[in-house]
Amino acid sequence: MMRDGATALASGQSETTIEVTLPGRSYPIVIGEGLIASAGRRIATALPGARCAVVSDENVAALYLPPLKASLELHGIFLGKAVVAPGEASKSFPVLATLCETLLELSVERGDCVIAFGGGVVGDLAGFAASILRRGVRVVQMPTSLLAQVDSSVGGKTGIDTRQGKNLIGSFHQPSLVVADTSLLSTLSPREFRAGYAEVVKYGLLGDAPFFAWLEQNWTEVFSAAGGGRRRAVETSVRAKAAIVEADEREETGRRALLNLGHTFGHALEAFAGYSDRLLHGEAIAIGMRLAFAFSVELGLCPAGDAARVERYLAAVGLPVKIAAIPGSQPTPGELLRLMAQDKKVKGSRLALVLVRGIGAAFVEHDVPLPRLTEFITRECATR
Ligand SMILES: NC(=O)c1ccc[n+]([C@@H]2O[C@H](COP(=O)([O-])OP(=O)(O)OC[C@H]3O[C@@H](n4cnc5c(N)ncnc54)[C@H](O)[C@@H]3O)[C@@H](O)[C@H]2O)c1
Repeated sequence: MMRDGATALASGQSETTIEVTLPGRSYPIVIGEGLIASAGRRIATALPGARCAVVSDENVAALYLPPLKASLELHGIFLGKAVVAPGEASKSFPVLATLCETLLELSVERGDCVIAFGGGVVGDLAGFAASILRRGVRVVQMPTSLLAQVDSSVGGKTGIDTRQGKNLIGSFHQPSLVVADTSLLSTLSPREFRAGYAEVVKYGLLGDAPFFAWLEQNWTEVFSAAGGGRRRAVETSVRAKAAIVEADEREETGRRALLNLGHTFGHALEAFAGYSDRLLHGEAIAIGMRLAFAFSVELGLCPAGDAARVERYLAAVGLPVKIAAIPGSQPTPGELLRLMAQDKKVKGSRLALVLVRGIGAAFVEHDVPLPRLTEFITRECATR
């Protein structure tokens, strides 16, 4: 038996595999504890003959690169590493250019693969680099943040930000394999964990009311990692994401667009805050989801009780729910509306928004009444 197999057995942990089935591009998502040690074997089996360049950020590399490198070396497939600065600012053209050149210097060939080893920033950046390097090399996603494990590592959206907005340059590039080692989540800061948790809550709010109710009862178990709550939350989220991606890989039928619940508001707030520590992505999404519910109530689409329940819950887990929660200067309504209009959910002069008919019942409204939205945003910007 290989050493990595023994490690998995010794830890006594089972693993779960969820398949994403797409024509010619199907791949497994493996979820479990202590999976880094077996990464080399898994990749060597899934991608025979491929050598691997690991892309990571400084925080994750310092904590976890040595065991991943050892596992890849055990199978003779480690080509080298490229480590970027942590944070959203690394999803940029300059960092992408340097990364692509580093990967070429590591002699990544067409048959090789890039391992995106980090949070959503590394996943989006390394996935995009892989999609354009030598006209496309394969990528293995090894997500290390909660947000990346439940969302960004699955589904093949990759990209970078520009000053015009977030994720406006990118590609669809499905991974060949996703390995989510849930034991790595123990070193995430509480703030990062909570921000990622906003995306877990999103799956309940957009289409799975019983999951939301379960989260309301069990969130402390998910946060503390005691018992199986955390693993169940990750698996349920990944199953939901996989099903949506299978149904609408390229966001053509509207199903995948539901994953943008809270995102048009949230992306505008993130852009306003300069993609900085002032407001993390998941925090912006929490405020955005609250706004989506409140606006839906205002349009007579959603019971007020559902919106109040969502707001109470997000606040109870410690997520921000109001625009005023952003520290420092506040956006004007005009600024927010301009930033919302730049988000890619704009078709012609019409703004599409994901709205709700209640908890677990999101839908895409393609023709949002702009005067009502302006009124709403103006009031929200003035609410303390
Ligand atoms: N492609 C998609 O479908 C998709 C979906 C949702 C979000 N996203 C993108 O994901 C990004 C946000 O991802 P994120 O929240 O993971 O941010 P991130 O990648 O910046 O990671 C958050 C922080 O946690 C650190 N970190 C990561 N794993 C760690 C670990 N195990 N232990 C200790 N520290 C760790 C990172 O170094 C970083 O400082 C955004 O750019 C967003 O646009 C993409």
